Amino acid sequence: APGSPALTPPLGWNSWNSFGCNNVNETVIRQAADAMVSSGMRDAGYDYVVVDDCWFDPQRDAQGNLRAHPTKFPSGMRALGDYIHSRGLKFGIYQVPTERTCAQRVGTYPGSTGSSGHEVRDANTFASWGVDYLKYDWCSPEGTREEQIVRFTLMRDALRATGRPIVYSINPNSFHAVTGPTYDWGQVADLWRTTEDLLDIWQNGNTNSYPMGVGNVIDINAPLAAQNGPGHWNDPDMLVVGRPGLTLTESRSHFALWALMAAPLMAGNDIRTMSAEVSAILRNPRLLAVNQDALGAGGRRVRDDGAAEVFAKPLSDGSVAVGLFNRGGGTTAITTTAAQIGLSGGTFTLTDLWTGATSTTGGQISASVPAHGVALYRVSGGIPLENTTSRLRGAGSG
Ligand code: GLA
Repeated sequence: APGSPALTPPLGWNSWNSFGCNNVNETVIRQAADAMVSSGMRDAGYDYVVVDDCWFDPQRDAQGNLRAHPTKFPSGMRALGDYIHSRGLKFGIYQVPTERTCAQRVGTYPGSTGSSGHEVRDANTFASWGVDYLKYDWCSPEGTREEQIVRFTLMRDALRATGRPIVYSINPNSFHAVTGPTYDWGQVADLWRTTEDLLDIWQNGNTNSYPMGVGNVIDINAPLAAQNGPGHWNDPDMLVVGRPGLTLTESRSHFALWALMAAPLMAGNDIRTMSAEVSAILRNPRLLAVNQDALGAGGRRVRDDGAAEVFAKPLSDGSVAVGLFNRGGGTTAITTTAAQIGLSGGTFTLTDLWTGATSTTGGQISASVPAHGVALYRVSGGIPLENTTSRLRGAGSG
């Protein structure tokens, strides 16, 4: 949204995918904050620690204020925010614009503590706790888009009126998997969910319904690339990198595609116990640089041959990040050209975004890509064609 504190896609961690409603409490959030530091994630650029649903007392206080759940968060949310800030991180929290949070609506948590009718009070409460990021989740089968715009705008204005920079992350899309993403929410929020919840599955054959797999989310989010830019981001949901349902190859591809789509990168695995391989995926500096590029362009799917797809994300220095993505079950050779990803003339330097290794090409970009894998390059404009020798001009010189 205009004036957004999120000029590049937000990076962080959210409690939902690993702790859900029943297992979230202040101990695990503090441990996650500690793990953000000890794993090197903070130093790689991840800064938000977001406490998702089920942190609150099911009753507001006598004045109508939200308060922390007395046994799950006995120290209170202000103290939790202080702890997170003391680690050099930022504090995020979850709430809804309706009557009941998602867990309250589905009946796994008691009460009816949504912000409907309490927007200003709740925004002030969050600011007083030091909240830096609000995830605001419609989560109701009821409501038209017009009502959503009104309610989401009320909280946007209430947050702004606090004077505290608070990233505003909305989910207008639960139960509206097909209609939700077709609206550009960039005037209202800094990021907005475009799909149903992503779980750690590769592909749900039931393409447009809960739960979504990595492939389903890509198919809905990729065509929305033009909506992306500094302060307004499509949000294809939090990461399931490192969750048990994905292989390491699938986690790598999922992370790479989210980076190319300029998605917010909110880890959802248990970062206290993650393997070195998973940690390395999340901290890949070359992919994070592509995701955080100042231009903020969303990667486009420039070719779709069924299983073989090519994604290209223009970067602020004139180079292009390209992904050769194999969604199919066997190893496949995938080829694109500099022209197809928007570069013309000359020879080009290819930097492999996994390894950092460089090579040169006259324009052809190809790789043998394993099942569910992605080959990734940053393609930098090299010497203009007229200055190269004929040796470098030859096909396949890379
Ligand atoms: C919805 C959201 C999830 C999570 C849960 C919490 O399903 O899409 O990301 O916040 O609610 O109940």
